[in-house]
Amino acid sequence: MAITPDVLVIGGGVVGLAIALELRLRGASVTVLSRNFAQAASHAAAGMLAPQAEKLPPGAMRELCLLSRSLYPAWTQKLEALTGLPTGYWECGILAPVYEPEPEEKTPIAQATIPTPYTQHPTPSFWLDHTEIHQHQPGLSEAVIGGWWYPDDAQVDNRSLAKALWAAVQDVGVNLREGIAVETLLQQDKQVSGVETLRETLQAGHYVLATGAWSQALLPIPVTPKKGQMLSVRVPVEGDLPLQTVLFGSEIYIVPRRDGRMVIGATSEDVSFTPDNTPEGVQALLERAIRLYPGLRHVPIKDCWWGFRPATPDELPLLGASPYANLTLATGHYRNGILLTPVTAQLIANLVWHQQVDPLLDAFHWSRFRA
Ligand code: GLY
Repeated sequence: MAITPDVLVIGGGVVGLAIALELRLRGASVTVLSRNFAQAASHAAAGMLAPQAEKLPPGAMRELCLLSRSLYPAWTQKLEALTGLPTGYWECGILAPVYEPEPEEKTPIAQATIPTPYTQHPTPSFWLDHTEIHQHQPGLSEAVIGGWWYPDDAQVDNRSLAKALWAAVQDVGVNLREGIAVETLLQQDKQVSGVETLRETLQAGHYVLATGAWSQALLPIPVTPKKGQMLSVRVPVEGDLPLQTVLFGSEIYIVPRRDGRMVIGATSEDVSFTPDNTPEGVQALLERAIRLYPGLRHVPIKDCWWGFRPATPDELPLLGASPYANLTLATGHYRNGILLTPVTAQLIANLVWHQQVDPLLDAFHWSRFRA
């Protein structure tokens, strides 16, 4: 007879796995149903931890993102200690070069000293003029006239992170079931009464929906796929890497990894779940990347891939309560899924297991989309 876990997490991307880990560490018995680990948006991402470079406006989302970034060092250390696997967390900073003047934004002092209520420390940003930015980062296009330097933005190797989380949940005793797609959420009296897969019906005390771009197949919530195409190149690793910081251009980002790979992304396309890289997509990425960092024109291309960001109409995630008393939402992270993973896991595990409702969750309540 199947054991009924305290919590069933639907979705085996980094968000689902991280929630499962936190719940298990708090004492819950947890099952994760993963439809296809390799297809999760977690693998497609670039791993930028970029609340500042993404220029999120002041408000709950920016707070959530800054808080999550501040959790990253201890959280990745915990994962690495649990599993012995690297996560590729790297406090490399993010440089945001521009081709046009941005007069209204040249207020680095104002931006540099605002402590946020959640992180309690300043989030520095510095405007670099033409001379300073080219000294700071040799090899940029001469068309770059200046840019912002965000020393606290960082990166993680999202594929290494996903592998570490995959191992961590198994190490702590989460029942991780790969290749199991949930077909239907069974509902009765405002409760989820079970989930149907092709082969069986599963039940749990509580359910967490972490199915990213595929969420709408299970629940009428406005989460739609926004396709991103990406590619990687490789530079020689002898000597110093030519790029030791993320470049976040207005139309392209280039994320150097310590092993010499550079991840280049990403398109943003409303094409539903249409798969594959396209010549137009790859051409746009290459042209923009070469324009920003011309030395790339001669390095070998290693790989191309694509993924589906889970987008909501206001581009904010759906976190916390759902229309069903025993179903919690953790989806719709759009461009910031990797960044928001540790804070999502912490807030959702505390909500599900300790019934702690963090006020930060208010802005991400599903009812904002209620007709
Ligand atoms: N986080 C960057 C992107 O979604 O392309």
